[in-house]
Amino acid sequence: MAKEQQPGLPTTPSDTSLTFGIDVSTGMNAYDFAARGVNIAAQREKRGIPESLPLPHGPWTMELMPTDLCNVGCSWCSHRTLRSEHVESVKVLRKSGDTTMQPYLARNTLMELLDALEVGGDTKGTYWAGGGEPLTAPYIVEAIERASQFSDVFLQTNAVLLNKFTKNTELLGTLRLISISAVGFDETSTESVHQNNTFHKIDTNVRTVMEMRNGFREENGPVALGRLKVNAKIMVDKTNYLQLPDLVHYWRDDLKIDIIAIRLVQDIYYGETTPTEDQAELSSDQKAELFNLIVANYPQDADLQKFANFLQLRQLTNKITRSCYSTTQGHFGVIDAKGDVYLGNPEIGNIEYSVGNINQQPWAEIWGSKRHKEIAERMNAEQLAGTCNKAFCRHTTANLGVEEYLDGKRKAPDEQEIMDEGYGAFM
Ligand SMILES: C[S@@+](CC[C@H](N)C(=O)[O-])C[C@H]1O[C@@H](n2cnc3c(N)ncnc32)[C@H](O)[C@@H]1O
Ligand code: SF4
Repeated sequence: MAKEQQPGLPTTPSDTSLTFGIDVSTGMNAYDFAARGVNIAAQREKRGIPESLPLPHGPWTMELMPTDLCNVGCSWCSHRTLRSEHVESVKVLRKSGDTTMQPYLARNTLMELLDALEVGGDTKGTYWAGGGEPLTAPYIVEAIERASQFSDVFLQTNAVLLNKFTKNTELLGTLRLISISAVGFDETSTESVHQNNTFHKIDTNVRTVMEMRNGFREENGPVALGRLKVNAKIMVDKTNYLQLPDLVHYWRDDLKIDIIAIRLVQDIYYGETTPTEDQAELSSDQKAELFNLIVANYPQDADLQKFANFLQLRQLTNKITRSCYSTTQGHFGVIDAKGDVYLGNPEIGNIEYSVGNINQQPWAEIWGSKRHKEIAERMNAEQLAGTCNKAFCRHTTANLGVEEYLDGKRKAPDEQEIMDEGYGAFM
């Protein structure tokens, strides 16, 4: 007998920033940042750093967006406007005879930054993302090898050029966490998002990475490459949401990736102030349809069922904390392909919030500067007033965790354990 259709989701507008991650190896939700935030707060306390001051020499996690170029064209790319504006401005400069600028960070500037972060000693994780596709940056292998000498490396990629890192086990072992924006499960579904026939390259690259990692782990245990975790961030939009079970099946059961995360694409585009017509984000009705599809047809699939439950949750992201700890305590910093330094994701590209620029100043003059303090105070005030963009911020759960810790409602995680499991360095 067919299973009776469950009532769908309420059609009230719900939080759009849903990301749900399951570490297939441990069954844990990999996307709650609270424990990571608490770990930083506890480490700061051990070092006697006053509650209101940032880490002295750099953020715990430094996100680097080395390039604004990309080798594919996802229509819903949150950076599409900032990237194309940057690429166009470089073209204009070229026409006027200035050939010195590129739409990516200069190698030497980036290497100097990495030197400064290593000397500073506060940065535990470097998170290589975009902007555009980080693996298209010409120096990416050298830069990541350098960063891996003092930090855990997290690479966010579309995986088309992941073969740059599969030349040998040592090189692949420079990566601690790879997160792949998973857009398809065959040629057609992949091409419809990437606008490019990338499926077979991705498929081969991911299989190679998993084989190399698994073989190494069997022989050597959890050292270097054996520690690598691979995450598929399954991107769900208006065009593919009914194919979610196929996507999960391919990435989890066929490619046997370590972590699957399901990310609802959001219609939030950096640098765009007015809503666009070509909305990619699921409507409330579509979320309800997806919920019903899973509940009715996949009762045995624990991961999909968990996701269906998750779809029903109203997130706590609107809760205001006494401080935006991520900002005020220096948990996180990000540098875009123009060299601007920001303290939160939603602020990227809004020059009013830039703390400085690594093309113009050395790192030591940016982090801890008067400007840094002013911007942190401004962001903190906006958080307190409830006017910051919590729907696009990934540090809200971290802030809630830190507050619970400071209020004695939550214990610090075991430092060794959280670092060993692979997420502790990344905010
Ligand atoms: C702009 S991408 C750059 C890195 C790399 N090219 C990639 O796609 O993984 C950075 C992250 O933002 C995610 N992303 C892009 N557009 C998004 C959107 N509209 N809503 C939610 N996440 C988005 C991507 O999936 C990726 O995880
Ligand atoms: S691969 Fe990444 S950077 Fe490129 S268009 Fe897609 S989301 Fe944007």
